Amino acid sequence: MIKVVQGDITSLSVDAIVNAANTSLLGGGGVDGAIHRAAGPELLEACKTIGGCPTGKARITPGFRLPAKWVIHTVGPVWRGGGHGEAALLESCYRDSLELGSVNGVQSIAFPGISTGVYAYPKQDAAEIALSVMRQYDARFEAIICCCFSGEDADIYRELAAPGAAS
Ligand code: APR
Repeated sequence: MIKVVQGDITSLSVDAIVNAANTSLLGGGGVDGAIHRAAGPELLEACKTIGGCPTGKARITPGFRLPAKWVIHTVGPVWRGGGHGEAALLESCYRDSLELGSVNGVQSIAFPGISTGVYAYPKQDAAEIALSVMRQYDARFEAIICCCFSGEDADIYRELAAPGAAS
């Protein structure tokens, strides 16, 4: 089932939360900073052993002090106007994260709006991409959660996720 919630992803008691990371995997601001703060210093140590992550791909670590068992780190594209393969890379973030969750037995997974903060991806377009991939994986998970930080984001997702909305 695909659900839309508004709130802080670090508070969710799900099998996995997805982090909007950068290619170094060494932390940052936004949701990346929030997840590292909540998970504690072991998360950074675990990330250091991975040695980075290409844009569009995902890597998994334990959640440490988070309520979530796993953190799936994915690196979204920086929005540069739409002509540099951004849509395909963003779709790949969602797909790779869901595949990685699936092979690790994840049944409940929560996503922030990958690339829609600092990386400036237009929120509406990003939500359409996110939901289109989530729908392809819906049967393989108990819950796929769109965790929106702002009410504006939640409204965008609820509008798109409503039954009968354009797929
Ligand atoms: N819970 C849920 N969503 C959050 C939280 C939170 N605690 N904090 C921020 N967000 C939302 C933002 O409002 C935005 O919609 O996550 C979305 C992604 O925004 P960013 O965190 O800025 O991520 P992104 O746009 O993908 O940029 C990634 O920012 O923090 C750095 O290291 C990170 O370099 C990377 C870049």
